[in-house]
Amino acid sequence: MSEQTPYSGPQRILSGIQPTGNLHLGNYLGALKKFVDLQSAGWEGLYCVVDLHAITMPYDVPALKDQTRQIAAAMMACGLDPDESTIFVQSSVRAHTELAWIFNCVARMGWLEKMTQFKDKSGKDAERSSVGLFAYPVLQAADILVYKATHVPVGEDQKQHLELSRQVAARFNQQFGVPGFFPEPQPLIEGPGARIMSLKDGTKKMSKSDPAETSRINLIDDEATIAKKIKKAKTDTLGDMPETVEAMEGRPEVANLVGIYAALAGTSNEAVIEEFGGKGFGTFKPALADLAVAHLSPITTEMRRLLDDPAEIDRALAKGAEKANAVAEPIIEDVRKAVGFWQV
Ligand code: TYM
Repeated sequence: MSEQTPYSGPQRILSGIQPTGNLHLGNYLGALKKFVDLQSAGWEGLYCVVDLHAITMPYDVPALKDQTRQIAAAMMACGLDPDESTIFVQSSVRAHTELAWIFNCVARMGWLEKMTQFKDKSGKDAERSSVGLFAYPVLQAADILVYKATHVPVGEDQKQHLELSRQVAARFNQQFGVPGFFPEPQPLIEGPGARIMSLKDGTKKMSKSDPAETSRINLIDDEATIAKKIKKAKTDTLGDMPETVEAMEGRPEVANLVGIYAALAGTSNEAVIEEFGGKGFGTFKPALADLAVAHLSPITTEMRRLLDDPAEIDRALAKGAEKANAVAEPIIEDVRKAVGFWQV
């Protein structure tokens, strides 16, 4: 669906991370690292810890605040600067929920029924899932559009949700006769970190919810654990490292390790194969472990420092909430007018 009158307002980034479970290498390469690169490139960015999303599934109430703080700590430890970017908690900006409700009345059941994440997360027992889990992508559209964000850095698993956000934006503009009011947000997905797979099964996404600890590298893992997990990562029985990128076809575990190396080193799969093609895994895996440790250990150290004295995090989140509210307020006011709500 494309707009007749294109959006012509400022360009800005929004992205979010759920405070559920430990952050892993997939979250880092698919999302956090991109946030920091975009900040360095001078983009205006809003980055939120999406606690409203976290309650769509059963969760531990007393742990939510700490988990929220941990994600904020990770964002800051990776290099997001609260003075340059806006780091905040979703539930501190009430306009998200108000816009989500309005969007619930714009989005169609049929659009949501296509969402594969709901099917995956609700499993066989969809009838017992929360209504919130079903409407999750509508809230995600509100997260983005309440700031009129134009670009959204995410991993590949979020592609379908971004398509829904574009649909909602286009339909709102059309239904309420406000052409170009909302942008159709573009996902920023490309790059070797877009889809990091499990270290135990190259056909499955690296995920917080995988019961096997050895399937993922957590941002809080220490150096020895990272090295051990990489050493034990599954490969295959098809011999040494492939000599060409094409030869990675049919070798998903190997392709994943090459992709991780490329994403961490900021290079391409071709360059990794050029360096390691034909060599044994006994050479490649230690090199990958060294690279991962070099990248992640400063982040882990900084995360621990921030969490030891959380006042700095809490100050950043308070300031972030203020900045985010200041952007969202005038937009939600215009939405209220567009949909015909009573003005007091
Ligand atoms: P979440 O919390 O599951 O994941 C956070 C980010 O990490 C990316 N990611 C991955 N990237 C590469 N490989 C992987 N294996 C991998 N696993 C996770 C995700 O794509 C995401 O970018 N619905 C979102 C949170 C959200 C959001 C938003 C994102 C809520 N509102 C608005 C963008 C804009 C989620 O559950 O992400």
